[in-house]
Parts: sequence; structure tokens; C-alpha cells
Amino acid sequence: MESCLPILLHSLCFVSLVLQISYASDSISAGQNITDGQTIVSAGGNFQLGFFSPGNSKNRYVGIWYKISAGTVVWIANQENPLNDSSGVLKLTPQGVLTLLNHTDGIVWFSNVSRSTQNPLAQLLDSVNFVVREANDNDLDDAIWQSFDHPCNSLLAGMKFGIDRAKGLDRYLTSWKSVDDPSPGDFTYKLDSSGYPQLILRNGSVVQFRSGPWNGLRFSGFPQLKPNPVYSFGFVFNQNEIYYYFNILNSSVRQMLVLNDNGISQRLTWVDRTHDWRLYASGPTDECDTYALCGGNGNCNMASSPKCVCLTGFVPKYPSDWESMDWLNGCVRRMELNCQGGDKFLKFTNVKLPDTRLSWFNKSMNLQECKQTCLRNCSCTAYSNLDISGRGSGCLLWFGELMDIRQFDENGQDIYVRMAASEVGKILAFSRQSHSEDLELPLFDIITIVNATNNFSDNNKLGEGGFGAVYKVTIVNFLEL
Ligand SMILES: *[C@@H]1O[C@H](CO)[C@@H](O)[C@H](O)[C@H]1NC(C)=O
Ligand SMILES: *[C@@H]1O[C@H](CO)[C@@H](O)[C@H](O)[C@H]1NC(C)=O
Ligand SMILES: *[C@@H]1O[C@H](CO)[C@@H](O)[C@H](O)[C@H]1NC(C)=O
Ligand SMILES: *[C@@H]1O[C@H](CO)[C@@H](O)[C@H](O)[C@H]1NC(C)=O
Ligand SMILES: *[C@@H]1O[C@H](CO)[C@@H](O)[C@H](O)[C@H]1NC(C)=O
Ligand SMILES: *[C@@H]1O[C@H](CO)[C@@H](O)[C@H](O)[C@H]1NC(C)=O
Ligand SMILES: *[C@@H]1O[C@H](CO)[C@@H](O)[C@H](O)[C@H]1NC(C)=O
Ligand SMILES: *[C@@H]1O[C@H](CO)[C@@H](O)[C@H](O)[C@H]1NC(C)=O
Ligand SMILES: *[C@@H]1O[C@H](CO)[C@@H](O)[C@H](O)[C@H]1NC(C)=O
Ligand SMILES: *[C@@H]1O[C@H](CO)[C@@H](O)[C@H](O)[C@H]1NC(C)=O
Repeated sequence: MESCLPILLHSLCFVSLVLQISYASDSISAGQNITDGQTIVSAGGNFQLGFFSPGNSKNRYVGIWYKISAGTVVWIANQENPLNDSSGVLKLTPQGVLTLLNHTDGIVWFSNVSRSTQNPLAQLLDSVNFVVREANDNDLDDAIWQSFDHPCNSLLAGMKFGIDRAKGLDRYLTSWKSVDDPSPGDFTYKLDSSGYPQLILRNGSVVQFRSGPWNGLRFSGFPQLKPNPVYSFGFVFNQNEIYYYFNILNSSVRQMLVLNDNGISQRLTWVDRTHDWRLYASGPTDECDTYALCGGNGNCNMASSPKCVCLTGFVPKYPSDWESMDWLNGCVRRMELNCQGGDKFLKFTNVKLPDTRLSWFNKSMNLQECKQTCLRNCSCTAYSNLDISGRGSGCLLWFGELMDIRQFDENGQDIYVRMAASEVGKILAFSRQSHSEDLELPLFDIITIVNATNNFSDNNKLGEGGFGAVYKVTIVNFLEL
């Protein structure tokens, strides 16, 4: 990460610390303060809290960094309101409010709490959570304020990435502006709960990438997210809370997820020998991760050339744009839906499920009920299981265009896309024909072939035999349902 995290740019992301005097303690109590130059250190010695200046900046910020790597700042208090000198004092008021004061006693930053305490304690935990709680109450659920609820650009083990409706919290990542300026940058990575929840990475208001919905095993768009020896992970989705989390399995391993200034989320692991962070995984990973690259009803496939194809049964909305790799307007149905009982579904396998922001879901329906529910609503265009662990459960429905589908080699999932019954019939006839050993020309309707080969476009031409050109048809992986 280029901003607070210097993996590749270690020396650039240097943090200059004025003479440091560490408290023996990991905490301050009511009335106590930390001045610029003083720090507190978590009990296990992993993290340090105090004043610092990022990169080449001369501004002073209160933050938390790894003791082993002072350049690796994981949380900042006064991100948007830096001090311009070393007169800052971080104080805990008797009511339990953390306040950062400048030398004229102006409040530069404060922890916004809704409750007050009798005997507050502000403690830096070894998890890197900075917590204000009642001194005699160790239960984190009772904490009146915690830095974990106000993430910056880093997600650490044990943090909750998502929302808590009961507490009115929305915990998401925001990139730094630059290595020298930790104020909020252009990129946010946020849980979106408008339909079935998914993580959405935006540049300003523009969606760049989506994780896809959680499918019980992983996010639909993260086929590489698998059980591993380094960290466990999961997704909690109930009445009050929706969040993703991870935990480190071996406490001596240091790992975190950072949203860097270029809008790339990176999972990094500390390598002691080289004294540096190594990239474990990152996202977006490739072109097909670009949100809606192939437009509505398109399917992005890194293995195909060009990368965008229309879903079977759909054709480019503007064929000439499509040919020139302008896929933005996507694909439209070759045959209109009938709706009044005349529609069927085609199954597409191994895909990243489309954008779920306009989806509908039911956790207890099975696939058959799901299909029937979709058929009953003329604007329903596709369905799938919600949870693919075990034998599959739950129902997810889409309405309108299917946006941002991509094809995976493994760990993708099934989606059933609504089609006119006659379309399904033709595709199946053609499919059977093209799968047969017999290389005779198919016996059905030439118009369908014309459409299926995209008007015999050169893109789909495989070669020319004695009987004329041989075309490839983009009919893969589907079944009638
Ligand atoms: C900070 O604490 C010291 C004692 O440790 C005290 O002398 C000083 O006045 C305090 N500063 C503020 C701004 O409260
Ligand atoms: C710091 O900011 C204050 C208020 O904006 C200003 O009066 C002062 O001159 C600045 N000091 C430095 C060293 O820039
Ligand atoms: C101290 O902070 C207050 C409130 O943020 C601000 O109005 C004032 O200009 C600051 N003073 C200096 C010298 O930075
Ligand atoms: C403090 O929190 C309340 C309630 O969440 C909110 O309305 C208010 O805007 C916050 N104030 C600041 C300065 O962030
Ligand atoms: C983010 O958006 C800004 C403003 O629209 C643009 O200049 C920049 O190139 C975008 N960055 C990326 C990585 O897409
Ligand atoms: C934990 O990691 C450390 C250092 O990476 C290694 O020496 C140790 O064997 C690991 N422990 C387990 C239980 O895997
Ligand atoms: C072929 O596709 C066009 C749209 O490109 C559509 O209007 C037409 O009905 C299709 N014909 C057949 C027989 O599929
Ligand atoms: C979800 O599906 C179950 C099982 O079919 C049904 O009993 C329940 O009413 C459905 N809930 C909603 C909100 O549709
Ligand atoms: C179909 O589903 C849409 C989206 O959920 C909804 O607005 C509409 O009322 C439904 N129509 C019927 C007939 O149920
Ligand atoms: C195929 O070609 C015909 C005639 O040139 C044109 O009208 C039609 O829009 C084309 N369809 C596709 C899918 O390219």
C-alpha cells in the first residue's frame, strides 16, 4: 500500500517520529494525556500509539502503527484535521471522551460517544483496537468507543467490515489521498446492503469493482478465497449486523487488508527476514474485475478473445460498437420473453453472480420454489441459490439486466437465466447438434445459427472446410431447466 503501508515503497513511506518516550502503560485514564513525543504500547508489544508525520509531510497526526514497522500506520484519529506543530495533546476526559487539543486548547479531534462513564480508561489492545471503556469492565461489547468501529484504510484481524444497524455503525475502508496525506482519498470499499449484500469498491461515486454476494463459502467474485492455513474468514448476516471478518490462525503471523491510494485492496503479510510486507492477494485482479466491463447481459471471460461475450440467447445491442470492443451497452435478448407461461431457464455454470443491488432474496426457499417465484414475476430475469455450501439453499432473484457477470475456471456458481421457451428449444437443438460426432450441417433453422454466430462474424469463424466456413457458437455450460 502506498499510503500508510510501504510494502513496495518502503522508504517512501517513512514516518518521522520525534523523540519517543513510551509509557510503561498501554492505557491512559481520566485526566491523563499523551503529548507529542510520548507513546503507549499494547501489552503484547505489537502496536504503538502516538503522534507521527506521514511521508514527507510535516503535519502531525495521532495514529497507531506496528511496533516492528513504524511506517505501517493502521489507524489515524485526526485524518482530516492535522496539527501543524508538535503542540498536540491527546487527553481522556473524565466523561470518557478522547480529545486532541492544540496549544490554544482548540479541539482538533474527539471521539464522538453517546454515553458517559464513571471511571474511564483508554487502552490500546494487542489486536490494535484502541478502546474507551469503564476501567473495571473488560467486556468489549460494553466499550463506549473503539477505533475498530472507525476504520481508516486498513482492515485487521478481528475487525468487522460492514454495518451494525442497532448501533448505527457503517465500517468501511477509505483510501488515503497520498503517501504524504492521509485524509480521505477517492476510493471507498464498503458493504452495500441495498439488495443481497456485497462489497463495493468505488472511485468517488463510480463503482469500480464488486465482490459479488456471499455464497456461504466465499464472495461470489473471489474464487481464490479458500480455507487456508493462515487465516479463517466468514460473513455474518442477521437482523442487526452484516459484516465480513477474518482471524489469523497463528498469532505470530501478521496480516492485514489495506485499500491503497490507487484503489487496490491488498492482503499483506509481514516477512520478518526481509522486514517488509509481502503481497498475499489483491483485488481487483484483472480486466474482467472491472465493474460492468461487458455491459448488461454480457459475460466477461479472461480466457476468451475478445474478453466480452453475450450470454447465450442474447446479442449485442449495438453490433458495430461491440465489434470495436465498445461493450458498454451490452447485450439484448434475441427473442422477447413471453412471460405468460412461455418462458424457461438456461443454466450457466461457473460464473460470478451479477450485481445484487436490485435483487430479492429469501434464505429458506429451495431452488424449485425459487424458480417458481421468478416465473410468477414478469420482471424477474434470473435466479440462483443464495448459499452453495452443502446441497445449496436459499433463493436470490434478479430483475432487469444482468450486470457484471464473469466466467471463472473454478469456484464459480450456477445461475438460471430466463429465456423465451422457443429460444431455449433452439439453443438445445443446436447444442445437441454441435456436440454430436456427426459433422453434417445442423438440420434446424439457419436463422438461429446466424444469430448464434453473431451474423457469421469473423470472430466466431473457426476455419473453412470443404463445405464452407465452420463457426464457433458461444453456447457453453448450460442446461434446460
Ligand atoms: C498533561 O498531563 C500532564 C501531567 O502528566 C500535565 O502537567 C499537563 O498539564 C497535561 N496537559 C493537558 C493539556 O491536560
Ligand atoms: C499553524 O496553524 C495556525 C492556525 O491556522 C497558524 O496561525 C500558524 O501560523 C501555523 N503554524 C505553522 C508553523 O505553520
Ligand atoms: C486550534 O484548534 C482550533 C479548533 O480546531 C482552531 O480553530 C485554531 O485555529 C487552532 N489553533 C492553532 C494555533 O492551530
Ligand atoms: C456525533 O455522533 C452523532 C450521532 O451519531 C452525529 O449526529 C454527529 O454528527 C456526530 N458529530 C460529529 C462531530 O461527528
Ligand atoms: C478515479 O476517478 C478520477 C476522477 O474521475 C479519475 O481521474 C481517476 O483516473 C480514477 N482512478 C482510477 C484508478 O480509475
Ligand atoms: C506460527 O508461525 C511461526 C512463525 O511464522 C512458526 O514458527 C510456528 O511454527 C507457527 N506455529 C504454528 C502452530 O503453525
Ligand atoms: C435473431 O436476432 C434478432 C436480433 O438481433 C431478432 O430480432 C430475431 O428475432 C432473431 N431471430 C431468431 C430466429 O432467433
Ligand atoms: C421465504 O420462503 C419461505 C419458504 O418458502 C416462506 O415461508 C416465507 O414466507 C418466505 N418469506 C418471504 C419474505 O417471502
Ligand atoms: C416483481 O418484482 C418487482 C421487484 O421486486 C416488484 O417491484 C413487483 O411488484 C413484482 N411484481 C409482481 C407482479 O409481483
Ligand atoms: C445481422 O445482419 C443483418 C443484415 O445485415 C442486420 O440487420 C442484423 O442487425 C445483424 N445482426 C447481428 C446480431 O449482428
